[in-house]
Amino acid sequence: MKSIFGKLSEIWSTDMAIDLGTANTLVVIKGKGVVLNEPSVVAVVDEKGKKSVIAVGDEAKTMLGRTPGNIQAIRPLKNGVIADFIVTEEMIKHFIKKVHNRKSFANPRILICVPTGSTPVERKAIQDSALAAGARRVQLIEEPIAAAIGANLPIQEATGSMVVDIGGGTTEIAVMSLGGVVYSNSMRIAGDSMDQALIYYMRKKFNLLIGDATAEKLKKEIGTALATSNNTYQVKGRDIRSGTPKEISLKEEDTAEALNQTLSQIMAGIKDALENTPPELSADLVDMGLTLTGGGALLKNMDKFIAKETGLPVQIADDPLACVAIGTGKALEQEEIFSTILSEY
Ligand SMILES: Nc1ncnc2c1ncn2[C@@H]1O[C@H](COP(=O)(O)OP(=O)(O)OP(=O)(O)O)[C@@H](O)[C@H]1O
Ligand SMILES: [Mg+2]
Repeated sequence: MKSIFGKLSEIWSTDMAIDLGTANTLVVIKGKGVVLNEPSVVAVVDEKGKKSVIAVGDEAKTMLGRTPGNIQAIRPLKNGVIADFIVTEEMIKHFIKKVHNRKSFANPRILICVPTGSTPVERKAIQDSALAAGARRVQLIEEPIAAAIGANLPIQEATGSMVVDIGGGTTEIAVMSLGGVVYSNSMRIAGDSMDQALIYYMRKKFNLLIGDATAEKLKKEIGTALATSNNTYQVKGRDIRSGTPKEISLKEEDTAEALNQTLSQIMAGIKDALENTPPELSADLVDMGLTLTGGGALLKNMDKFIAKETGLPVQIADDPLACVAIGTGKALEQEEIFSTILSEY
């Protein structure tokens, strides 16, 4: 008896939820929580025209921008959608293998979250990649719904809940009520755009060339939506005129200036959502406010900036980087409750 139950629970436990993000991929296993959290990066080596994967995730991210000629470190997802199918499939396969030891691998049912703005073709592509990677059945959930479930918002109730998920490639804005999305907007402006804005600013103001990894690092270390301190940060890069390495001291207020345009675009999306929300739900939002999820929620003073611009209370979800994955995991576990919001292509 025991061994039958043991076997059953082993198969049962292989069901998994995946937050396939532009920047990070997280995997949740039924009953076990987040079991994998790694950058969505794959390093590929090209040997006489034959490409093979040499590293995935954490190991591959350290190679970004540092690879010799025959090795390429690729981010297969751009703006929340698959830019490179073959590499995405390899990445999903690798992560599925990594979370299972081969013994208990049992063609899992997989729930994957997708941006609300993704097209049917893009959704089918994600589904096909997971099927090719060994899934038995693949269902999809929209990212802001997963974020709201992860943040414990009362989306099933007759009250308005608003989520702004600022990821690497997309910002998802949604107003939900009674288990459905009343308004949603998916913008292809998020953390990566902030990095690019910093790169542009450093070049214009300081004639300093910096790479993507340095831009992301300084965004996390000193970046802010509103300047509130005199903090400075030493940034190293290459001088455009002399071509030699140089170091400059960047002020916090510089980053606010650099990020201003990107943040204004995100704000415009939030204001659009508020203008398109039915009045009864707008009234709820005055009290409930909006919840920030995704890595962009961790930008210093992001919550204060949005609160100042909208006049609404703004909360940051408990674990913004894992919120979508946690919500996807809950939807997987409570299939009966959330069945109407899961889809298949
Ligand atoms: N402390 C921080 N301050 C500012 N930005 C941060 C911080 N920590 C992480 N980020 C940014 O958050 C982004 C990653 O967030 P997240 O993991 O939610 O994205 P994703 O789910 O992979 O992307 P998407 O949902 O767009 O597909 C990156 O751009 C990263 O630089
Ligand atoms: Mg995301």
